[in-house]
Amino acid sequence: MTFAYHMPHRPRPDSLPGDRAGPADAGDIASMIRVDQAGELGAKAIYAGQMAVLKDQPSAPLLAEMEAQEAEHLATFDQLVADRGVRPSALSPLWRAAGHAIGAGSALLGERAAMATTVAVEEVIEGHYLEQLDALGRLKTGGDEAELRATIAEFRADELKHRDVALENGAKDVPAYQILSRSVKAGTRLAIWLAKRI
Ligand SMILES: [Fe+2]
Ligand SMILES: [Fe+2]
Repeated sequence: MTFAYHMPHRPRPDSLPGDRAGPADAGDIASMIRVDQAGELGAKAIYAGQMAVLKDQPSAPLLAEMEAQEAEHLATFDQLVADRGVRPSALSPLWRAAGHAIGAGSALLGERAAMATTVAVEEVIEGHYLEQLDALGRLKTGGDEAELRATIAEFRADELKHRDVALENGAKDVPAYQILSRSVKAGTRLAIWLAKRI
């Protein structure tokens, strides 16, 4: 006789209702691709919004480089959405508009505030990608999704680099860093929660 043991999952302190950490099934993978496409859309829009304001400032080349990488991430998830017939987030126009507003708004506060926003967003996103890698390691669909895992691992490394670039460029020198960081992180987590579902 065999027994299946189910360890209760304690929700992370910042998890939202309905978040869970069980084995991933096909529906979960579609949801992952949906939220990742939406997230990369938002990320690209944030950098585009920052560039719109800071295009003549010293940080412009860094912002442009990060925006180009987000465009690559987005193109990859656009392709995955198309290949697998995943329904894109119905809130895509919102992610584009909100991303642009956060990017431009933070940039209007100055280059360091833009960098602080990048740190907050990228920290949440890399944690989100890490959770997906963990879930994909507990697949119950049969396949191993090796390619998707490699893609997510690569993008996670890029997001960590973006965070480091922002830290090296004065992110923490901005006044009210904690308030800005907490607000942006809360907004990003809420966006992720919504884009998984809608
Ligand atoms: Fe990205
Ligand atoms: Fe990024």
